[in-house]
Amino acid sequence: MEKILVTGGAGFIGSHIIDRLLKLGNEVICLDNFDSYYDPSIKRKNIHFFMENKNFELVEGDIRDEHLLKSILDEVDYVFHEAAQAGVRTSVTDPMKSHDVNATGTLNLLKAAMDSNVKKIINASSSSVYGKVKYLPFDEEHPNQPLSPYGVSKLLAEHYCRVFDELYGLKSVSLRYFTVYGPRMRPDLAISIFTRSALNNETITIFGNGEKTRDFTYIDDIIEANLIFMKKGEGVYNIGGGHSISINELAQKIIKINNSKSEVVYTSPVKGDADHTLASYQKAWNEIGWKPKIKIDEGLEMYSKWFINEN
Ligand SMILES: NC(=O)c1ccc[n+]([C@@H]2O[C@H](COP(=O)([O-])OP(=O)(O)OC[C@H]3O[C@@H](n4cnc5c(N)ncnc54)[C@H](O)[C@@H]3O)[C@@H](O)[C@H]2O)c1
Repeated sequence: MEKILVTGGAGFIGSHIIDRLLKLGNEVICLDNFDSYYDPSIKRKNIHFFMENKNFELVEGDIRDEHLLKSILDEVDYVFHEAAQAGVRTSVTDPMKSHDVNATGTLNLLKAAMDSNVKKIINASSSSVYGKVKYLPFDEEHPNQPLSPYGVSKLLAEHYCRVFDELYGLKSVSLRYFTVYGPRMRPDLAISIFTRSALNNETITIFGNGEKTRDFTYIDDIIEANLIFMKKGEGVYNIGGGHSISINELAQKIIKINNSKSEVVYTSPVKGDADHTLASYQKAWNEIGWKPKIKIDEGLEMYSKWFINEN
C-alpha cells in the first residue's frame, strides 16, 4: 500500500484518480481548495463517496501554501498533481491567476517535495503547450508555441518539473492530456454543454465556424495512463485519443446519440483557442506500453448515459 497525495482531487480528473487509487487499496490524501471557477458543490459531490473510506483524507487548502504542503508531504510516496486553474478562456481574461496557480503553485509543490521522501510526481500537463500547429499529429518533439496564458503556465510547470529532477533528483513525469471528457467532466467543456443542450432540445452554440478539430480523450484512458506512469517513465508524454474530429462533427454526433432536435448556431471565435489538436501516442506506447482504448462514439454514448442518470 502506498500513501498518495492527489492535488485538485475534488475536480474532474483528480476524483477519478482517487477512485482508482482507493480501489487498489492505497491511502489517499486529497488536497483541494474548492475554487469557485465552477460550482464547488459539484466538487463536493465528486468526492462524496470517498468520505466514509478510512483510507481517504480530505485536506481543504491551497497548493500555494508551502507550509501546509510540507506538513502533508512528510509521509507521502507519490503525488498526482491535478490542481490547476483550468480553462484556456479564463486565462485570457485573468492571466495572473493561471500563472499563480499553475506555474507558481507547481513550483511551490516541487519545493515542498524536495525535502520529503516523495518518490515521484505525476504532473497533469496539457496539449495546450503545443499551440501553433507546425504539423500533425503532435509528437513530443513538436515546437511549443502556446496560444494562451494557460498554455504558457502549463509549459512552465513542465519545465519546473524537469529542472527539479535535473538539479535536485526529484523524479517526475508530465502527462500532456488532450481534451478530456467523461462522467463528472467540468461543466465548462464543450461535450458537457452540448449534451445538456441536446437533451433539452435547446440550441447548441459553437464558437467560430466549428471547423476547429480536437482530439477528445476518454477519462478511463487518462486514469489508466496515470496509474501506469506512477511507476514508469520520466519527462513528457502525450496522453491523447489519437483521433480528432471537428466541433461541427462533435455537435452532430451528440445530437444523433441523444435523438435531439437541437439546432446549431454560431458565434464569434474565442481568443487563445488552438485551431487543431491531435496526439501521437507512439512515445507512450513504445516506451511504456500505454495507448488509448475508447473511441469517440463509444465514449460519447457512455457519457450521455451517465449524464441522463445523474440529472
Ligand atoms: N479536462 C481537460 O480536458 C484537461 C486537459 C488537459 C489538461 N488538464 C489538466 O488536468 C488537471 C485536472 O483538470 P480538471 O479538468 O480535472 O479540472 P478541475 O477544475 O475539475 O480540477 C482542478 C481542481 O483543482 C482545484 N484547485 C484549483 N486551484 C487550486 C489551488 N490553488 N489549490 C488547491 N486546489 C486547487 C479545483 O478546486 C479543482 O477541484 C489540470 O491540471 C488541468 O490543467 C485537463
